[in-house]
Amino acid sequence: MIRIPFNRPFATGKELDYVRAAMAAPKFSGDGPFTAECHRLLEGSLGVQKALLTTSCTHALEMAALLLNLGAGDEVIVPAFTFPSALNAFVLRGARPVFVDVRADTLNIDENQIEQSITKRTKAIFLVHYAGVGCEMDTVMSIARRHAVAVVEDNAHGLYGKYRGRNLGTFGELATLSFHETKNFSCGEGGALLINDAKFNERAEIVREKGTDRSRFFRGEVDKYTWVDIGSSYLPSDLLAAFLRAQLEHRDQIQSRRREIWETYSRELAAWADSNDVRLPIAPPECEQSYHMFYVIMPSFKARQALISHLAGLGILAVFHYLPLHLSPMGLRFDGRQGDFPVTEDLSDRLLRFPFFNGMSDSEQSQVIDAVRAFRC
Ligand SMILES: Cc1ncc(COP(=O)(O)O)c(C=O)c1O
Repeated sequence: MIRIPFNRPFATGKELDYVRAAMAAPKFSGDGPFTAECHRLLEGSLGVQKALLTTSCTHALEMAALLLNLGAGDEVIVPAFTFPSALNAFVLRGARPVFVDVRADTLNIDENQIEQSITKRTKAIFLVHYAGVGCEMDTVMSIARRHAVAVVEDNAHGLYGKYRGRNLGTFGELATLSFHETKNFSCGEGGALLINDAKFNERAEIVREKGTDRSRFFRGEVDKYTWVDIGSSYLPSDLLAAFLRAQLEHRDQIQSRRREIWETYSRELAAWADSNDVRLPIAPPECEQSYHMFYVIMPSFKARQALISHLAGLGILAVFHYLPLHLSPMGLRFDGRQGDFPVTEDLSDRLLRFPFFNGMSDSEQSQVIDAVRAFRC
């Protein structure tokens, strides 16, 4: 039986008050006062000119693909090691993924392999800041500018992480956030689109509101609303925004607790890692991470699987992460082949994530650490 889960949903204590207040309002569909407050909190804390809550990070990525007009014949550069949502977003529009391997230190897209993958058809780079450690954004942005391709940051892991002092999610034309229950800040299921280029603002509202100009209508800017573009329903209920507001308001408490948990793992497992040929996570000096996850790179697939079983035997759930996308059934349809991206293939087999959640107690963490230290590779 699992006693210490990989993740446990967390509430700050303020959520119910806000949800009750949202229920008492005359309407609790999308874009009510709690949604507006979440937008304000995100825009203010990140310095982005516009944030729009969405029903998930996946949907924010779909909005990005729509806003960039990605379609048949277009190519989009993606790391071979990421979550499928980034790919679905533009494959749904008819565009093709062009995979690039990741760096062995951060597991982020290898910026030195991007340029060789750009063709006349390349329209965008969809990258992920893995574990909330920033990609090498100076290089990525200068390649993107040189070739006039858009950058979309899938920042599902990296809210409040920074690269050279600047918040992740503020570099690309568009960026996305996730508020799924496994993320630092959550409302169960949710996300946001961050818009760094104001030219997308008006159309983003339309795409998010079923392809209509309903947002303008609600602001009194037009006297009726109608179908003006393609779109879908990407806005969450104000009830979810009420829940999320409580979490966003507790930013400092949440982030400082996560930092404590991360640093405890790092400090307490250093000697064990050293003597067992295990690698701890690496954040380059220019990156301030978001403390989203704690993973280790085991010496082999066999050792990784053995540690999973050892921990499960003690009631602790540790989990691996993304499988190489180019070798997935969908990736094979886009010509993926074994051996194409050796770093992704190798690290995906050896990566292991330990339990890490806002409400993790010191005692739970000590039990995980003791159990890990008792394992020999
Ligand atoms: C990098 C990344 N992007 C997107 C997603 C999907 O997020 P959501 O569940 O909010 O759609 C995930 C899920 O964990 C993820 O890891």
